Amino acid sequence: MKIIIVNGPNLNLLGEREPEIYGIESLSQVNTWIRNHELCRSLEIDFFQSNSEGDIIDFLHSKRKTVDYCVLNAGALTHYSYALRDAIVSSQIPTVEVHLSNIYKRENFRQNSVIKNVCIGQFYGEGKHSYINGIKYILENKQ
Ligand code: DQA
Repeated sequence: MKIIIVNGPNLNLLGEREPEIYGIESLSQVNTWIRNHELCRSLEIDFFQSNSEGDIIDFLHSKRKTVDYCVLNAGALTHYSYALRDAIVSSQIPTVEVHLSNIYKRENFRQNSVIKNVCIGQFYGEGKHSYINGIKYILENKQ
């Protein structure tokens, strides 16, 4: 099974950025941890991060015929990007929304996800484990 793990704006600064909220590990450390996780043994995983909405949309488009699932931490795009929402629908890549933090226990603007309704699942509040929870959900619900 081919999976893409996509991280949006500011997630390149993981480890430095508000560590009390997002943890002290860098994105590459988190990605390595995911890559080596026992659940991922049989998976072909491609990692992608961009601070640019358009690049993320282009990436989803480019993978639309070759990957089975996407695990997406869209960062703040989650809360307002209808273009990203449309890209998830248009690419037809079944996508799981994930967040390191619990977006429902933070500022009001973070409590709305405009991508939630076009994703097959949503996992949040477990730090890097949110990504594994998303992958677990995919493995348990794959068609
Ligand atoms: C985040 C939550 C978003 O509200 C925020 O803009 C992020 C990270 C998370 O992983 O908790 O950049 O997606």
